[in-house]
Parts: sequence; structure tokens; C-alpha cells
Amino acid sequence: MTGRLAGKRILVTGAAQGIGLAMVRAFVREGASVFLLDRDEELLAGVGDELAGQGAPIAYRAVDITDEQGIAQAVSQAASAIGEINALVNNAGINVFAEPLQTTNEEWHRCFDVNLKGAWNCCKAVLPGMIAGGGGVILNIASTHAFTIIPHTFPYPLAKHALLGMTKSLALEYAGRNVRVNALAPGYVSTQKVIDYWNSFPDPEAAKAQTLKLHPGGRIATPEEIALAALFMISDECPFMNAACLTVDGGLSVQQHP
Ligand SMILES: NC(=O)c1ccc[n+]([C@@H]2O[C@H](COP(=O)([O-])OP(=O)(O)OC[C@H]3O[C@@H](n4cnc5c(N)ncnc54)[C@H](O)[C@@H]3O)[C@@H](O)[C@H]2O)c1
Repeated sequence: MTGRLAGKRILVTGAAQGIGLAMVRAFVREGASVFLLDRDEELLAGVGDELAGQGAPIAYRAVDITDEQGIAQAVSQAASAIGEINALVNNAGINVFAEPLQTTNEEWHRCFDVNLKGAWNCCKAVLPGMIAGGGGVILNIASTHAFTIIPHTFPYPLAKHALLGMTKSLALEYAGRNVRVNALAPGYVSTQKVIDYWNSFPDPEAAKAQTLKLHPGGRIATPEEIALAALFMISDECPFMNAACLTVDGGLSVQQHP
């Protein structure tokens, strides 16, 4: 630990597992205080109690990011527990994959409510305190789906494209008040979400092999590798990085053919 995040009071959504949890562990290791938020109460309590038991400066609350009022309450609880939030990581997200013409209204709304409006609910709740406190940083976990399309994944990529748009918009609005807003675009990462995706195919092992084959290095990312990039973007080591999107996909999205 070198204290790269000393003084950071970070709210991480979707913090109970996967990329979110890997970020929480990396942030704590580098001296941050972290407020964990997730809708999965049981999973969150498990990791929250484990980290607190190890002496980590953390607190947590189970809330769904689509619950605007619940988010506002969580942000004031976070301020009492670890101090005014000066960094936010909008990480919670869900896959909603359908054939475009078969997409139900329920699927459409669920996709945008979680992947876009949920992130906005959190921005809206933390920005006033961040600005009053002299500035801060917001990191939106987008995806390579924010600028490329995989067929049959509609409407998820639309929401990630919009999340990138929100990143740029807020970045310009609040740059003059010392708030940086950036996006991080992972490719495939070994989390439950990707395992569930492989399991949605008749032959999950073949689906996994196909995914690995697409990657120039023959493997996908670990959550810890994404957390290392997030750590840099949240830290003060890139003070002029604003409205940017950092791709971390092992080279997947720039190749024309595997
Ligand atoms: N895994 C990948 O390959 C990959 C690739 C690119 C981008 N991403 C993005 O990274 C983020 C994290 O993905 P992951 O793979 O770690 O997912 P995950 O499913 O492993 O974990 C996501 C966590 O978010 C929580 N969550 C989901 N909806 C929520 C809601 N409405 N309110 C509060 N919490 C909620 C879940 O309970 C879960 O604990 C997502 O935004 C995802 O779109 C993932």
C-alpha cells in the first residue's frame, strides 16, 4: 500500500461482487474510505462485514440504484459514516439482451433504468456535496458496448452508448468546478455476469472457447485488472483526464478480424 487514494471517500455501486468488489478491495488497499452500495442485501452484508472485520474504513447499504430516494438517503448515510463523498464509481449494471423486435417494454425500461438512470440518480445525489467540498471525481463503468455492437445484445449497448454521452456531458458541465467525469470501458471480464452469459448458450463451454478465441491474448480480463485502471482514474495521478473513456479490453475492440 502506497496511499495513492489517501483522502478519497468513494461510493461504489454494485460493490458486492465482480468488478465492483475488486475495485473496493483495491481502493481500500490504497488508503481510501469506501461506501459500498448494492441491491443484493445478503451478498453485500457478507463482504461488508468481512472487510469491516479486517479493519477496512468502509460502510455499506443495500439499495437499488433505480430508487432515487433510497440513493439520496444512502449518500447522506455515507457522509455520516465516512465523510462527504468526493469520488463516485457508477459500476452497477445488468445485461438485457434481446432480439430488437422481440424486446418488451419491460426489458427496455429495465435496461435504461438500471444502466443509465441509476447512474444519473447517483451523480445527482453526490454532485452537490462534491462541488461544495471543492471538487471530486466520477467514474462511469461503461463497456466496449459503449462504442461497438455485438449482434443480439439489444438494447444493452444503447444504454452504454448513452452512459458515455452522459459522461461527456457532465464532464463539460462541471469541469469549471473541479469535478472530473470519465468512463472506463472493459471488454469481457471474468465475473458472474459473463458466466451467466456463457450459460445462456446451449453449449456454454463452446461459447466460452469462442469468447477466448476472439481475444488477441487468448484470455479475458480479471476483475482485479479492471480495478487497477479504475484506481488510476480515481486517483490524483491523472488530474487533466476529463470526459475521457479508457478502454481496457486486451486489444479486442481494435482488431478487424480475430
Ligand atoms: N463482466 C464484464 O465482462 C463486463 C464488461 C464490460 C462492462 N461491464 C460492466 O461492469 C459493471 C459490473 O459488471 P460485473 O461483471 O462486475 O457484474 P456482476 O453481475 O458480477 O456484479 C454487478 C453487481 O451490481 C449489482 N446490481 C445490479 N443491478 C443493481 C441495481 N439496480 N442496484 C444496485 N446494485 C445492482 C448486483 O447485485 C451485483 O452485485 C457493469 O456495469 C457491467 O455492465 C462488465
